Amino acid sequence: MSALKNLLEGKPARMPLHPALVHLPIALFPLSVLLDVGSWIFPHPEWQLVRASFVTLIGGIATAVLAALFGFVDFTEIRADHPAAKIATQHMILNLVAVALFAIGAVVRVGELDAAHTAILPLALSIVGLGLVGYSGYLGGDLVYNDGIGAGRHRRRTPTPESTIQVRSSDARVAVADDAALRDGETLRVDVDGTVVTIARVEGTLHAFQEFCTHRYGPLSEGHFAGCHVVCPWHGSRFDMRTGKVTGGPAKVDLRTFHVVSRDGKIWLERPSRS
Ligand code: FES
Repeated sequence: MSALKNLLEGKPARMPLHPALVHLPIALFPLSVLLDVGSWIFPHPEWQLVRASFVTLIGGIATAVLAALFGFVDFTEIRADHPAAKIATQHMILNLVAVALFAIGAVVRVGELDAAHTAILPLALSIVGLGLVGYSGYLGGDLVYNDGIGAGRHRRRTPTPESTIQVRSSDARVAVADDAALRDGETLRVDVDGTVVTIARVEGTLHAFQEFCTHRYGPLSEGHFAGCHVVCPWHGSRFDMRTGKVTGGPAKVDLRTFHVVSRDGKIWLERPSRS
């Protein structure tokens, strides 16, 4: 199962496959609409523009379904507490609706492939679908460029924490886990009243700092460690875990750090104030 997941994530190819494949439907759908419009400007049945548009549309639908398969695997990788989770859901729903509209239009076209021009209904469905795909494509770019979804996945070195520990408390210090739950070189991810914090034990010392990298929200609980520095898994920004200071770009803004201690067999974290 994990071999299939690795394949769908593009690990053997060492590149994310969803962004590579979406170029095909994004090119084929507009081409199909252009051929439809052409069939109205040049209504010559012998030019076969309606049939050409249909074939292009089928190609767009087939490649969109293929891209969606890889995209869904990327989607399942996004944590529910990541700021991009909502945009990714919108992106997926818009794409599904658009492909459904194109597919309905394709069914309607069958039987009229030798007409002089494309009928109004399938043309209208394609134009609406194209608008949805265009906006959804913009959201997809936003996910990659602004939120780093799918970026640098092959560079992960540390084990990813299975889940985020939820803590709701108004105390100044909160016990977040048993001390034994965190081994050297590993991380815990804790959500304290909406602030997500990474706790790392490195060379015997506990560190606590904000989970999301100040560059593009990379998950620092999945980063790796070099001495007292944590290195972001996405684009390699480096921060001093003791002070939060940036010690290597592309990030320019320091991390928030928090006081954390081990006492009475528990890991205690200073409750983060709202920033
Ligand atoms: S998100 Fe780009 S370096 Fe962390």
